[in-house]
Amino acid sequence: MKGVVFDLLNEVVSRRYGLLAWGELIDASGVDGTYTSLGNYPDEEFMSIVAAAAPMFGKSETEVVRWLGREALPIFAERYPMFFAGHSSARTFLLTLEDIIHPEVRRLYPGAAVPSFRFETPASGVLVMSYSSQRQLCAFGEGLIEGAAEHFGEDVRIDQSSCTGRGDPECVFEVTLTRQG
Ligand code: HEM
Repeated sequence: MKGVVFDLLNEVVSRRYGLLAWGELIDASGVDGTYTSLGNYPDEEFMSIVAAAAPMFGKSETEVVRWLGREALPIFAERYPMFFAGHSSARTFLLTLEDIIHPEVRRLYPGAAVPSFRFETPASGVLVMSYSSQRQLCAFGEGLIEGAAEHFGEDVRIDQSSCTGRGDPECVFEVTLTRQG
């Protein structure tokens, strides 16, 4: 896992719970806690921080990961405005994930192990996204989708019809977006 993800967690924890919270979290996790954005760190280390954060913030581990995704999206929008330019809906933005966003992330952060998504766009208007990864971080993706909807002023319903966390062969999101107000 790239250091940039640990830095993101540091940033969202510090914004929401104050600057001291990150240090307390690192102590509680029993990890070293020093990260550089281009460095690569064991996934287990990330999961140890998530496991320590859950009781500290009164969330489940999955909720911590989803929350990170939701809060990370506006930070991505500040840092990487080029990925958002030209879109007026989360739908077209999300559809660039495989061809533009994550390939560019791999170029910016050599060694990044980004997940892969397969898209289906049935006539119903629902956007179907199937997630596969060496990790089980579909909740991060779910949070990013929620954050993207908010960014573009849309309400979103995400039905997760299958999830590897529940023993299914893959994770599938059925994303329904509606313009707010
Ligand atoms: C501006 C937009 C985005 C940027 C800059 C970005 C960047 C990244 C980076 C740096 C990683 C870590 C890779 C690693 O540690 O090896 C990552 C992982 C991930 N990204 Fe993105 N991402 C973006 C948008 C999205 C969106 C919209 C989704 C929504 C589904 C998504 C889903 C994920 C997931 C689920 C992971 C976790 C790694 C895994 O599951 O294997 N990303 N992304």
